[in-house]
Amino acid sequence: MEQKFYITTPIYYVNDVPHIGHAYTTIAADILARYNRLKGKKVFFLTGTDEHGQKVEKAAKDKGRTPKEHADIMVENFKSLWSRLNISNDAFIRTTDPEHIITVQGLIQLLWDDGEIEKRQYSGWYCTPDERFWTEKDLVDGNCPDCGRAVEQIQEENYFFLMSKYQDRLIKYIEDSPSYILPETRRNEVLGFLKNNTLGDLCISRPKARLAWGIPFSFDEAFVTYVWFDALLNYYSGTKYLAPLKAVSSQRSAISNKEEILNSELLTLNSDNWWPADHHLVGKDILTTHAVYWSTMLMALKFPLPKNIFAHGWWTVEGKKMSKSLGNVVDPNEMVEKYGVDAVRYFLIREVPFGLDGNFSEEALVIRINTDLANDLGNLLSRFLAMAEKYFGGVIEGIEGDIVDASFASECIKTLYPARDDANWSNIRFNIILDSIWNVVRMANNYIAQTEPWKLAKDNKAQLKQVMVNIWNALRLTAISLYPFMPDAAEKMWKQLGMINNITEEAFKEEVTNWQYSGIKVQKGEQLFPRIEVKKEMQKSDEQKPPVQNESDNLISIEDFAKVQLKIGKVLQAERVPKSNKLIKLQVDTGEQRQIVAGIGHAYAPEDLAGKCVVIVTNLKPAKLMGVESQGMLLAATDSNGVLSILIPERNVKEGAVIK
Ligand code: MSP
Repeated sequence: MEQKFYITTPIYYVNDVPHIGHAYTTIAADILARYNRLKGKKVFFLTGTDEHGQKVEKAAKDKGRTPKEHADIMVENFKSLWSRLNISNDAFIRTTDPEHIITVQGLIQLLWDDGEIEKRQYSGWYCTPDERFWTEKDLVDGNCPDCGRAVEQIQEENYFFLMSKYQDRLIKYIEDSPSYILPETRRNEVLGFLKNNTLGDLCISRPKARLAWGIPFSFDEAFVTYVWFDALLNYYSGTKYLAPLKAVSSQRSAISNKEEILNSELLTLNSDNWWPADHHLVGKDILTTHAVYWSTMLMALKFPLPKNIFAHGWWTVEGKKMSKSLGNVVDPNEMVEKYGVDAVRYFLIREVPFGLDGNFSEEALVIRINTDLANDLGNLLSRFLAMAEKYFGGVIEGIEGDIVDASFASECIKTLYPARDDANWSNIRFNIILDSIWNVVRMANNYIAQTEPWKLAKDNKAQLKQVMVNIWNALRLTAISLYPFMPDAAEKMWKQLGMINNITEEAFKEEVTNWQYSGIKVQKGEQLFPRIEVKKEMQKSDEQKPPVQNESDNLISIEDFAKVQLKIGKVLQAERVPKSNKLIKLQVDTGEQRQIVAGIGHAYAPEDLAGKCVVIVTNLKPAKLMGVESQGMLLAATDSNGVLSILIPERNVKEGAVIK
């Protein structure tokens, strides 16, 4: 039987205009969905919108619309963005769908019948903008601890889900399932929270008199449920009426009769259902609602828990939280317009390891495009195609006999291994996967430099033919591996390499890594990643810099130079400095262990660095960078394209070796 893979994004508040934070989760889910389709799995990728609640009710009223009319208009912002970002979701759920409403009503009824829900008198401090209650001790200076706005005391009857009784079971479940919550740091946070706090029960209703825009309880029409109890259940309801292989025919109008609701097929979990999900991707801010509310809701419903909840980090802009009031909300539509869909997809996923926070800047986006895409990848492809054209009229002929430079072939396949390793995919280690693809790109660029095809063209065409086959294969594997991340660009690359079949047909088959020899005609086409001209403003700021002095104006004596102590250091450990994309903290052995903070985070991932021998200035006065002490400086070169490379000794020398 085909294996199934079910992945979700949070359902986004329909009232908000989508920004790069929303785009981020959805792109990540899309990459995983595409990869799993390539692996031959039957995939269900669900996204959608969260449409009930006070904010929508209020915004609609202000605009003179009904809440549903308002939602119908706003939902298009999300749908159009997803199509623009090439998101391959299989379905789009709206919490106002009648089937979803029936499912929520039915499941609440079941929990009520099972004694998992109780009606109680409730009093608490309510934050209207955030739509949530706080206890007295939660408040900060008498205000909402989340948004800082004023709260009001409210006393009313409400329904409570008896979440507290699941506390111990949940702790045990998380402890027994190491990959239930990822990354591990977040898992530890959730466990810490659960072990050090007493879990309360969860208020899941609002009196209709105060909030009408929710889902009415089937056993008490005076109350509605909304936000979390409504929203989280989308992950289940979507599988019942929107999924391929769905068990239930769609039903376009809500029913209110209790018997009918309870008899609905929507409530039954069959073995052929999609449930449970392989991944719920969420931002770190909504991890508790998923790890705690959702997990305990499922326990009470006696439904299996999802295989994984992955909490990613948050994007700031110029170091600040994105907010309408600061006017710094980044519109993904605008970025796609300016830089193209694949560059935006690539940047968001490449710039920070999935799980950590990142800082968005257009400058960093342009650097990524110019270095990784235009320089490394785009140049490799266009040089290869130009050579194929020039030396062989575009035909990469088959070769006979043994493959030349067989070690290049085997190294490429070995280097690409992490990108094809399921463990990296199921733990969502995009950075490791992309590193491995770019290592192949770098290997191929170096291979061209070493084999010097332009010389072979003069005196050894037979060997050149074989070199070209090697580069073609490296590019073919690069295109395949990049497909989930940049589907359009990968497909164009694929066509330019002369492939006729569909890239998705063979991408992750085992035999695809076999080095292919057969002849093919390449198709030079448009340049895939044109360089972006650095913004005029950036140039302007360069103009304001003092003029570069002549080297001869700047001469120093040998004694001056001798003052600088340079040594070879071996990197023992590397990690990012929190809240910085640029800085990496290294523990380096230069004969003695020292800590170095280096601004190389845009060009290197910490995992790239461990074990490398580097050049360190060892007698600099210690300095603090973002509060972290650096005892020296790591040397790196930056060329006029902004490409940064750390300096590495040409031969193996021992750490501590003196450079003179
Ligand atoms: N409707 C709820 C989710 C219900 S899921 C059953 C909700 N919606 S939201 O629109 O406010 O947020 C949706 C997602 O966007 C969350 O995962 C959140 O973390 C993410 N992001 C919002 N701002 C973000 C950034 N600045 N950066 C990264 N992701 C961010 O919460």
